[in-house]
Amino acid sequence: MEEVPLGTTGETVSPLCLGTMYFGSRTDPETSRALLDTYYEAGGRFLDTANIYATWVEGYDEPESEPLLGEWMTERDNRDDIFLATKVGFEYGDVPKSLDPDVIEREVEKSLDRLDTDYIDLLYAHVDDRDTPLAETMAAFDRLVESGKVRHIGASNYYGWRLARANTIAEERGLTPFSCVQPRFSYLTPHRNSDFERQRPATDESVTYCDDNDLTMLPYSPLLGGCYGRADKRIPERYVTTENRLKMDAVADVAERHDVSGNQVVLAWLTQRDPPTVPVVGCSTVEQLEENLAALDVDLDERDFERLDGIETLGGLH
Ligand SMILES: NC(=O)c1ccc[n+]([C@@H]2O[C@H](COP(=O)([O-])OP(=O)(O)OC[C@H]3O[C@@H](n4cnc5c(N)ncnc54)[C@H](OP(=O)(O)O)[C@@H]3O)[C@@H](O)[C@H]2O)c1
Repeated sequence: MEEVPLGTTGETVSPLCLGTMYFGSRTDPETSRALLDTYYEAGGRFLDTANIYATWVEGYDEPESEPLLGEWMTERDNRDDIFLATKVGFEYGDVPKSLDPDVIEREVEKSLDRLDTDYIDLLYAHVDDRDTPLAETMAAFDRLVESGKVRHIGASNYYGWRLARANTIAEERGLTPFSCVQPRFSYLTPHRNSDFERQRPATDESVTYCDDNDLTMLPYSPLLGGCYGRADKRIPERYVTTENRLKMDAVADVAERHDVSGNQVVLAWLTQRDPPTVPVVGCSTVEQLEENLAALDVDLDERDFERLDGIETLGGLH
């Protein structure tokens, strides 16, 4: 698997990151381990988790994803091969939604313990916190980088202007900047009035900011639940627009041309875009993962990009 540069980190990572949100909860431990093994054997080295995964699933009050990854890396003795990303900022149990320095420091200690490691390769601010001054949050992240507990930082669910402000503050004060960004992003664009609560879909402006500043985007929910290639998965309601119906026709045309699935077309579009994004893929079966990994072999040409990007936009991203 050929690695790609990750934002301003100066490092390279696997072109598809494995999302492990439901590992150990909705996805049982045995299947989760099979997914990790399959990904690793295919050459994948980039894992995405969070301190809160997945405490909202009924029957799982405690984080399950981080401990499962920790056990798996210990068993496989491969921690140093893995580029490990986790996140802090959302509420769970008695932990508040906050990027207050004390909360960040406490939660990172808990993540390190659960992951059975002494460093995190990439720590994301999982959500913006408008009640804590950005300077305090950036200084707290910087202290963690200085201590060696965290190697790089990224931002998830930020407005473009807040990202720009955070990195300007970091630059002015000589602090570690956000080096990459994890937004909700896929080929279809949500209806402009849709409300994702605390999730932040990428916008024209945040995409431009990332592209122009070498901040790699790592799209989450890139397959919108798998809706690009499954009759049983409808387009999520917030994505039902005229433009997206036309886009689904374009996906179907390109899929037919290459004899691949619609989900593979979308992953190929995301990874071959200029600059490339690094999709954070979620899978609940090994078959899905294998199909998603095979998307790396789908070679889109100019004609495909013209078809996919040629849909008349009605106000969203092209
Ligand atoms: N930063 C954030 O706020 C945030 C938010 C959400 C997620 N994330 C990260 O992003 C990762 C992915 O998120 P997501 O689960 O929402 O992603 P998604 O791409 O929207 O959905 C993944 C689901 O799509 C289906 N699927 C995947 N591959 C498929 C294939 N080849 N064919 C058919 N169906 C397929 C499966 O659904 P079924 O299970 O129904 O079969 C799978 O569980 C998470 O694990 C997490 O790491 C981050």
